[in-house]
Formats: sequence, C-alpha cells, structure tokens
Amino acid sequence: MSKKILLSGIKPTGRPHIGNYFGAMKQWLEFQTVGQYDCHFMIADYHALNFIQNSDEMRRNSLELIIDYLAIGIDPKRSVLFKQSDVSAHTELAWIFDTITTMPYLMRAHAFKDAEAKDKEISAGTFNYPILMAADILLYNTDTVPVGQDQKQHIEYARDTAQKFNNTFGETFKLPEALIIKEVAIIPGTDGQKMSKSHGNTIPLFSSRDEIVKAVMSIVTDSSGDIPMNVYNIHKLFRSETEMKTLYDNNKGKYKILKEALIEDLDLFIKPLRERREEIAKDTDTIKKILDDGANKARSIADKKLSEIKTAIGVI
Ligand code: TYM
Repeated sequence: MSKKILLSGIKPTGRPHIGNYFGAMKQWLEFQTVGQYDCHFMIADYHALNFIQNSDEMRRNSLELIIDYLAIGIDPKRSVLFKQSDVSAHTELAWIFDTITTMPYLMRAHAFKDAEAKDKEISAGTFNYPILMAADILLYNTDTVPVGQDQKQHIEYARDTAQKFNNTFGETFKLPEALIIKEVAIIPGTDGQKMSKSHGNTIPLFSSRDEIVKAVMSIVTDSSGDIPMNVYNIHKLFRSETEMKTLYDNNKGKYKILKEALIEDLDLFIKPLRERREEIAKDTDTIKKILDDGANKARSIADKKLSEIKTAIGVI
C-alpha cells in the first residue's frame, strides 16, 4: 500500500522561534520518525518574497532555515527537503488556480483583511498568497499538512481550490487535511499574544543563553495573581502538568524564581539544538547538495503532476 503524503513549510523571514517548533516542526519530526508518510518539508521563499525584498537577506535567510531544519532533525534521507523557488511548477500551478478563483473569495482571507486593516497598499502577491500555498500543497497529492492554527484558513483555501478544479476539469486533486494540535495550536509570545516574528515577542529556537535570559526577563507578568500566566503558558511546553503544579504551587508569587526556572528549562532544551546547528552550519557544501537533491526529488513529483493538470485543462 502506498504511504500517505505529508507536506509543510516555513517562510524564511527570520529566525524560527519556539512557536514554529511546538506548533509545527515538532509534529514534522514525529511523522518523519513514524515512517508512515512520505514527508516533504519546504522553504517557502516565494511566499517570503512578500516580506523580504533584499537579495542578500533572502539568500541568507533561506540558507539559515535549511540549517535549522537539519538541526532539529529533518533527515534528507527520509524526507524531501526543498526550496519552493527551485520547483517552478508551484508558481505555474498558482497561475492556473488564479483563473478559477474569484476576487471576493480571496478578499475573505484573514491575512488579506489584516493587511487591509493596517491600511497598507497590498501587493498582488499578498492577495494571492493562499493560491500559491494551495499549489504547494496540491502538487504533491498531499493528505496531511501539519501547521499551527494561523494556517488553518489557508488549508481550507487549498481544499476549496482542489474541489473547484475537480468540478471544472475532472477529478485531479485529493483534498488535504490540516493537522493542528489543539494544545499547541497557538503558542504565546513574551507578551502573552501569539508568538510571531512580526510582533517582536519571540523566543528564537536557537537562542544563545543570553538571548534566552533577555527574552524570559522581558515576559510581561501580570501581578494580579500568584501565577504569572504568561510565564506559565510558555513553561508548560517543557514540563509535565504534575511537575508544573508542584513548581508553581511551591513558588506562588515568586516571579523571579519561576522565570529563572524557565530560563534553565529553555536552555536545557535549546543547548543541544544550538550545538548541533553550529556543527551543521560548518559544512555548506553538504547543505548545498542536500538542497540540490531535494529540488530534484520535488521537481520529479511536481512536474509529473503538472503534466496531468495541463492535460486536464487542455494546454497539452
Ligand atoms: P510561517 O512561516 O508563518 O510559520 C511556520 C509554521 O509555524 C506555525 N506557527 C505557530 N504555531 C503555533 N503557535 C505560534 N505562535 C506559531 N507561529 C507560527 C505556523 O502555523 C506554521 O505552521 N504560509 C506558511 C508557509 C507555507 C506553508 C505552505 C505551510 C507556505 N506554503 C504549504 C504549509 C504548507 C507560513 O507562512 O508559515
């Protein structure tokens, strides 16, 4: 029986944080280990182009993110690791999807509405973002997309787009499912709001000890109760419920001690990742080769699917 297919990705817009890790990447690793899925992990550089419009920064961020993937344990022997821009079928399919997508439908996207609320002049790239993401997912006959809550609507767009295409041109796409784990769907940042690169409230996944200290000390504590909830909600990612209960019961109102305990737990978790990352980063030739191999594997799957799609629409 053929394996199920899994695909996910991250935008290379800056250092990944523990929200990305616990919300998505940790699940990637579990699926890779279980081995019941063909896993595909992408660097969404064309999506990032909406935010990063500087060639040095784009190149550097993309390379850094590949190193990050490898450092957490994404294994190129078991998973396909590739850069979106290396597989031109993604943007080609996005165009095809554009022709069956209406503007009012795209106007309902949360990301579009948020951008509009900020009164920005919105680029066509931002407007079409969900369509490129639908192409990313559907090109690989993906069954499962492990992501955080903020991507839920994007997976719904991919499903709707697949359905619309199938209705118009005949059965071509599988309908993918989002995999969102409730407990880690929205990891909070140092201000208690959703952790996000754009909010400046992150704890980077590969932080130095100093950065961990600085981030934890900046956690906004609410002095109304015995438990600093913003500290607690991050801390519970690293300890069992019983351990947390004992620690926080024994230290009611002692915010400094609790923050120090969180620093230690974070450092215990991050230190081996940081060290592994430093080792991997030394060998840029190997990293380049991993990306070339990943691009070839991804291309062979995507190009085959694109031929099927082009036949369905009648351009070949
Ligand atoms: P991106 O780069 O914003 O985020 C990467 C992943 O991290 C998750 N995430 C979080 N999860 C829980 N709590 C948080 N605070 C938190 N912050 C981020 C995101 O939900 C995501 O899973 N559009 C995507 C990239 C993408 C993609 C794809 C993903 C492009 N094509 C195809 C899946 C499939 C994005 O911008 O993720």
